[in-house]
This record gives sequence, structure tokens and C-alpha cells, in this order.
Amino acid sequence: MMMMMDGVVFKIPSFKFLNPSPAASRSPAIIRCGLPRFSCSSIPALATTGREGDQALGSLSLGHITRPDFPILHQEINGSKLVYLDNAATSQKPISVLKALQNYYETYNSNVHRGIHYLSAKATDEYELARKKVAAFINASESREIVFTRNATEAINLVAYSWGLANLKSGDEVILTVAEHHSAIVPWQIVSQRTGAVLKFVTLNENEVPDIQKLKEIFSKKTKLVVVHHISNVLASFLPVEDIIQWAHVVGAKVLIDACQSVPHMVVDVQRLDTDFLVASSHKMCGPTGIGFLYGKSDLLSTMPPFLGGGEMISDVFLDHSTYADPPSRFEAGTPAIGEAIGLGAAIDYLSGIGMQKIHDYEIELANYLYESLCTVPNVHIYGPKPSETVHRAALCSFNVENIHPTDIATFLDQQHGVAIRSGHHCAQPLHRHLGVNASARASLYFYNTKEDVDAFIQALNDTISFFNSFK
Ligand SMILES: Cc1ncc(COP(=O)(O)O)c(C=O)c1O
Repeated sequence: MMMMMDGVVFKIPSFKFLNPSPAASRSPAIIRCGLPRFSCSSIPALATTGREGDQALGSLSLGHITRPDFPILHQEINGSKLVYLDNAATSQKPISVLKALQNYYETYNSNVHRGIHYLSAKATDEYELARKKVAAFINASESREIVFTRNATEAINLVAYSWGLANLKSGDEVILTVAEHHSAIVPWQIVSQRTGAVLKFVTLNENEVPDIQKLKEIFSKKTKLVVVHHISNVLASFLPVEDIIQWAHVVGAKVLIDACQSVPHMVVDVQRLDTDFLVASSHKMCGPTGIGFLYGKSDLLSTMPPFLGGGEMISDVFLDHSTYADPPSRFEAGTPAIGEAIGLGAAIDYLSGIGMQKIHDYEIELANYLYESLCTVPNVHIYGPKPSETVHRAALCSFNVENIHPTDIATFLDQQHGVAIRSGHHCAQPLHRHLGVNASARASLYFYNTKEDVDAFIQALNDTISFFNSFK
């Protein structure tokens, strides 16, 4: 069948032509295609009935059980049921988190650490309780080892500007991998320009994972810091951070773990890892945006100078100098994100209610299903390791389809199928360059996703590929 739009002739393969959406009619290249879609309307709202009822839930997956807790998932986008697969960028928020935020603003909104009135005392208690929840969640030994920041990026900058500028000097070495997120690279470039410290990047091995053997070999007495991700936001690979931390400590180096893609998805125990620093962002773990945290060993934090000045980070202020509060206050200048911290605490309650091991086990199952399903699509290249009994992948796949730009794929999936994936460099340009591409498409899952979501994505992707190939 041939059709003409805006004077351009399209060859349409085998699509049923339905009502074009307003967005579709703006774009001559996008045509509304009718394919069978996953329906979640038959899924009962079980998650809010309590986890004790799990046995009664029979064969329902964690995704089916928890979906009802996330109102945003139950809507149509561009005329199709939303399939949200952009969780590595940000996660959705359960009702309990939305309620915690609303409750704070409706009933005890007030500034923390300053007022003696009831509302301020209550806000302070809840803010500090949130810090305790974060500490318990990652098994920090004390809550003063948790510094609230705006996000993980700010937490890394805090370490760079505070610890980095004070401790690194010309010729010192910082080890990273080419697979780091820009947020874990750029602050260290700035520090290295100011101090003369050298950044050493480990490349990938033949399995498309950072070459751990090479990493081990470049440790020396000059190594002062290692900055590595726990789970790659592009390759879906897990780094053996426990080993890396041990090797670093042998030469007296410190380690900063970028745990943005691990803390939301698995049990992370900072004491067992023995890491010096670790960062994560609330918005990737069912919490609000605008808050993240830095974990730092208390003896390290207490030696570090402030990052920003003003507000509650002081002990005494004179006209010519100031003395500083102990950590974590030393690093929390100005009014903090109070409601957001309380929302993060609610998110941790929610995740802990399910159980991080359960989330991880389910996501490994989803990860394998996603990988295997994507392998059935012709001309697709998936980046990162092949999963096996011993090699686990996180529940995300970055991929390219031969001769189709990832942004065209993401646009078509969104406009024609309501499937939300990401395209671009995912804040990992050096990694993409290393892989020989400018960009990739990425589908990333969380525990509220289901195998049906994956099926819907694969079906939509096949449709997308047929559409673009029909012009060749
Ligand atoms: C591995 C990794 N590190 C760091 C970040 C930065 O997180 P944020 O933007 O919340 O600071 C991200 C976010 O995508 C990430 O995936």
C-alpha cells in the first residue's frame, strides 16, 4: 500500500491505519499503527493490601503486585497504554511517597534545626529520621555518615571539591573507567586541572565490561583515589567493587562508589564493602527529585573542609573567619530539601517493605527476559556482557538497530506505542565513543515492570523497525 502525506509518498507495509494522534499528525514521518497491546486492566490492586498476603498472590510477579502502587503507570500516552522503560533515568513514585510529601507540606512544613516551635521540631525530627533510614538502608554504622545533597552529582562534587582539592597533588593518580557517568568524570577533570593529579581510565575487555585485570595492574603508590560505578547505566554490568576496594586499600587509596544504579536495585552494605565514599540519588529509588546522599566514613568526613558556606554548616562566625560544625551539618549549607528528604525516607520504607533481595532476584529474571527477547529482534546490537549463570546483567539494555537512529526508534515507540525508552549518550559520551557510536537506545526496567511490558516493547520495536525499513 502507498500513501501520501504533505506531498511525501510513503510505502506502508502491513499496518492497520488508525486515528492519527495530534503529535503524529504534526510529523509526516510518523504513522499511527495498530498492533495488539498488553493490557494491564485485569491486574488487581494487591500491593496496597500488605506484603504478608504474598502467598495468596499465587503466581503474580512482583511487577504485577506493585504496579497498583504507582498511579502514573495507569494512563495512556499518545493513545496507547504507557509502558515506562526509562527507569535508569528516573523511577516512578509510589502513593506512600506522594502522601509523605503532601503530609509534610499540609501539616508540618517548617524549617529544620532552627525553630523551637512544634512544627520546626517535628520537621527536624522527620528530616533526621530520614537520615537514619538512609543509614540503615545501606548499613552505615552511624547516621552522621550520611550527608544529604541535591543528587548524586552534587555528592560527587562535594568529595571532589572538599576531599579532592585538599588531598590530591601533582602526579597523584585517580583511577576511573571509560564507562563512568559524566557526573563521575567531570568533577575529577576539574580537580585534576587544579591540582595536577592524573586521571587514568580503564577501558573495556572483549566482553564489553571494564577490564578489571587492567584496573588491578595500574594500582601503584601514586594511586590516591578510585572512582567507579557499581552497575553501569549503559552496559548493565556489575563491577566487583568489593575486590576493587580491597586492592585500593592495599596501596592506601580511597574509593568512591557511584551506586546510582545499584542502591535502588539490590542490597548494598557499605560496611561489608568497606568503601570510603558512596553516592546515590533519591529519584532513582522511588523517592523525590532534589535529594541524594553521600555516604562517607566518619573519620574521613571529619577531616574534610566544607564544600559550600553559610547556614547551618557553621559553629561560630566572626567577621574575619568562621569555625565549622561537625559532619554531616558541615556539608549541608543553607535550608536543605526537607520535604524531599522525608519523601526519600518514605521511599526507603516502601522498598524495605518489599525487600531489596526480592527486588534484585526479580530484576535479574526481568534482565534475562529483556536480553533474550531483544536478541530475537533482527539486526540489533546490545551493548555490555552476555548474561550467563555467572554473569548477571542489570535489568536494562542499551542497543542499536542497524541503519536506524536510536532517537527515531525512541520517538516512534513513544508516539505510536506509548513505550518510553531513552536515546542518546546517557551521560556516557566517552563510553559511546569507545564503543564506536554516538548514541544508543536504552530500555531500563524496575521492579514494577513485568514481562508483559517487555513483550509490549519488543512487539513495538519490531513494528518500529518494519516501519523504518519499509522506506529502504
Ligand atoms: C551511574 C550514574 N551515575 C550518576 C548519575 C547522576 O545522577 P543524578 O543526575 O541524580 O545526580 C546517574 C544518573 O543517570 C547514573 O546513572
